[in-house]
Amino acid sequence: MSGNCVHVHREATLITLGCDYNPEQWPAEVWAEDVALMRAAGIGLVAINIFGWSDLETHPGEYDFKRLDRIVELLHENGIRINLGTATASPPPWLVTRHPEILPMAADGTRRYPGGRQAFCPSSPLFRRHALDLVEQVAQRYGAHPAVALWHVSNELGCHNALCYCDVSAHAFRSWLINRYRTLDRLNQAWGTAFWSQRYGDWNEILPPRQALSLRNPTQMLDFHRFSSDEVLAHYEAEHEVIRKHSTIPVTTNFMVTAHIRDLDYWRWAPRMDVIANDHYLDHRLGDPAAELSFAADLTRGLAGGKPWILMEQSTGAVNWQPHNLAKRPGEMLRNTLTHVARGADTICFFQWRASAQGSEKFHSALLPHAGTDSEQWREVLELSGTLRKLADVAGAAVEADTAVLFGWESWWAAEQEGRPSTAVSYLDQVHAAYRGLRELGVTADVVSPDGDLDRYRFVIVPGLYLVTDQQAARITKYVQKGGTVLVTFFSGIADQDDRIRLGGYPGAFREVLGVSAEEFFPLKPGTTIALDNGGTASLWSERLRTTTAKTHAAYADGPLPGVPAITSNQFGAGHAWYVATALDPIGLRDVLRAAAHQAGVEPTGPENDGEVEVIRRHKNDKSYVFAINHGARSIELAAQGTDLISGEQVSGRLKVTPGGVRVIEEKGRRP
Ligand code: GLA
Repeated sequence: MSGNCVHVHREATLITLGCDYNPEQWPAEVWAEDVALMRAAGIGLVAINIFGWSDLETHPGEYDFKRLDRIVELLHENGIRINLGTATASPPPWLVTRHPEILPMAADGTRRYPGGRQAFCPSSPLFRRHALDLVEQVAQRYGAHPAVALWHVSNELGCHNALCYCDVSAHAFRSWLINRYRTLDRLNQAWGTAFWSQRYGDWNEILPPRQALSLRNPTQMLDFHRFSSDEVLAHYEAEHEVIRKHSTIPVTTNFMVTAHIRDLDYWRWAPRMDVIANDHYLDHRLGDPAAELSFAADLTRGLAGGKPWILMEQSTGAVNWQPHNLAKRPGEMLRNTLTHVARGADTICFFQWRASAQGSEKFHSALLPHAGTDSEQWREVLELSGTLRKLADVAGAAVEADTAVLFGWESWWAAEQEGRPSTAVSYLDQVHAAYRGLRELGVTADVVSPDGDLDRYRFVIVPGLYLVTDQQAARITKYVQKGGTVLVTFFSGIADQDDRIRLGGYPGAFREVLGVSAEEFFPLKPGTTIALDNGGTASLWSERLRTTTAKTHAAYADGPLPGVPAITSNQFGAGHAWYVATALDPIGLRDVLRAAAHQAGVEPTGPENDGEVEVIRRHKNDKSYVFAINHGARSIELAAQGTDLISGEQVSGRLKVTPGGVRVIEEKGRRP
């Protein structure tokens, strides 16, 4: 069950430190040193056998567990618990050589070769059968082993191969569509196949949306995304089922809640996990990587239903898969880690234990760097370990948030299809902009599914939620009617679940609650800035908007629509609904968020700032834990009362956080 508070460490109240370990890359002489150093670093959970298939099943049906047995015993003897991979993340060369038909196919109809990883079609029954045979062997052998604390199905399922366009996938796609629509009539309606002569008369005429000469059918593409996410999840469930025959230990897989992966609808996946685990790496291609880390952590907590979750992978320093792989500055790994802990992670793992000497990831950082233990990186690892030990009491505490940001993968897929008003508008950028504004206001937010429960929030942000179902629209409307405050940003509420435009004026689903109506989009060329009559600026988007019942807070001062409203608010029932019809500059967006949050009665957990400071509170029983993280170059002072769990210092009244520093204050007797 999702969100179960599964303790993967013997001691229930501990922030566990862990890592991926790939001993197959090293001679046996190294293993003893590895385990001794793991103990020195306080490693409590080790993921093994993630990419083990070609070592375990050397030839079809011939298994060799000698090495894995030794590793399992070595870890066990040293009191280190195991996060056991099923080893199915990458098929071995013998399998793809014998059965090249399992290789995935790109949208242009070309196969992808082996030589990297994940070279399989998620719908291939042949791949599935071979993978499950292996899982059966692994689960049978280690399912009751006392050292095994967690099962790690495959690895980052769907990272490279979520969308496969081969004939086997086409067949599976048709079955999925039959299950969704039952009749071709319904499918033709939903996909709008009257357009461009696309009407289907037989299920077999339907293909995955392979590359075409022109724009492709958007609902076909949307459904293909839905199908593909479900299909990869089905693989997870098949492995889960085999494991369950032999083991009662929690099962999970590592999600990729991050800026560069968007193919899996984790709202649908989360309820199928025994515990939620995420991989997160700072992405320096983004404008504000630290804010994205906070967003990803809050979204992961949302997937975990507010319960503690596992950070399954992060890096001590640089990764090797971005164009410019920046190392972490002194203290940055600690700040990153404690941001995850502050936002609900109780287990912190790294990829990987020892930096590889060979292979594609030899330039990826690790807990134990190429330089060995006489290194700053290693010393920082030991410091981190000591710090996490001092935070033991925080484990299990819940994060306090009175604000929600709605986020959905379906909207992401639908909003960014071919043939949209502006390719410069990115869904995630709009979500990040709103989230970042809140974070700079010192507001802690939950990230919630568009189907989620809104009643416990004072304030709900709906950034760029292009696709909304009737039920979602009704829930948001009712929330406002009953006294809630929402802030909706442009290109929201435009389409229904079939990507059919909601007619009668934009933003169709939210026209009434917002008290506005727009008749035409006026996207702006990238790089163009327009002025607002409140002194602010905007870019990317504008629309010919009029108010019906809303009042205007700002209008365009120039650009294509001078005098037309850009920021509005509407009293609706007992609540308020704000609309931001353009991409405001960050200060302008923060100003509107501040006004709406204030109207909603939101209580920030930290001071307003430019993103260099975050203050988050977790609570448990009659205690709360205030995490104050200073990413900036200036000292900050906050009001606080209690004990600093890291330094042991008593804080009475004023808390100073030095540049780059982190403080965690335990407050007594405070209830949310
Ligand atoms: C992913 C994978 C790991 C490794 C890291 C590198 O998260 O799960 O196997 O490739 O990326 O950052």
